[in-house]
Amino acid sequence: MDSEQTISNEAIIPLTTSGSLSQAANGVEDEVIISAIKVNKYFGDKHVLRDVDFEVRKKEVVALIGPSGSGKSTLLRCFNGLEKHTSGEIYIHGHLLDPRFSVKQLSPIRSELGMVFQNFNLFPHMTVIQNVIEAPLLVRKMPKDQAMALGEKLLAKVGLSEKRDVYPSRLSGGQKQRVAIARALAMQPRALLFDEPTSALDPELVGEVLKVMRDLAYEGSTMVVVTHEMQFARNVSDRVVFISDGTIVEQGDPQELFKQPKHERTKLFLERVLSTMA
Ligand SMILES: Nc1ncnc2c1ncn2[C@@H]1O[C@H](COP(=O)(O)OP(=O)(O)OP(=O)(O)O)[C@@H](O)[C@H]1O
Ligand SMILES: [Mg+2]
Repeated sequence: MDSEQTISNEAIIPLTTSGSLSQAANGVEDEVIISAIKVNKYFGDKHVLRDVDFEVRKKEVVALIGPSGSGKSTLLRCFNGLEKHTSGEIYIHGHLLDPRFSVKQLSPIRSELGMVFQNFNLFPHMTVIQNVIEAPLLVRKMPKDQAMALGEKLLAKVGLSEKRDVYPSRLSGGQKQRVAIARALAMQPRALLFDEPTSALDPELVGEVLKVMRDLAYEGSTMVVVTHEMQFARNVSDRVVFISDGTIVEQGDPQELFKQPKHERTKLFLERVLSTMA
């Protein structure tokens, strides 16, 4: 099965020399990691995703922005089967994600994607290192010493080596979120999905999490980031996607989209969020 054949060329975002730093450092590759074709989602009779076409390529960093209730979380959750889409097709690295799949059938597809939530979702009864190595041990059946070595490497990466043996309750929100990122990385996923990873944090803790995310982006991680952090969207992402009422209204180069939005809805949204940042 080759999902790339089913995608129109219009969906392919050209690389431009005027792109963001992330593009300059790590060229987006052709390999398609996530592909959604005409995806619809209903909750009861509420139509929350409407014919969404969405594609993420290897090493691409996509910022998903839009008003509250527009369907950002739902779209992200459909990508790893946490929500079942009603119609349309989703492929993760070429593998069809059928909404009728059982949890067991979903498992190998899910492990291709690491998810970071607003509220961290760490296991409270496990230490930091245990949180990080749980999935590699259980899902990947990685030998314990190898998992420990990986866990230590990832904790060093997010700057938390000294916290390896403490429980999450002893961590600040920013530290918890960095552990959650290390935990997502431990499965060596093809892409990382972030759902407002800094929204639950005190303002002074936002920077440390964004820094880790920025480093990941510059290293060439493939990322989809639902965020209200417009600086991150503008300066770090390769592409910004604006979604409103379950529809992708506009997407493109971050600098261009922020400077010159083509659609009135995008313009109004940006004016509103940027004015609250000023
Ligand atoms: N489990 C559910 N059952 C019913 N309706 C839901 C459910 N989850 C989400 N919705 C509805 O679907 C719509 C999209 O919700 P979603 O959480 O995806 O929005 P969002 O863009 O992530 O918003 P926010 O910025 O507030 O997080 C909303 O109208 C929401 O009320
Ligand atoms: Mg949401």
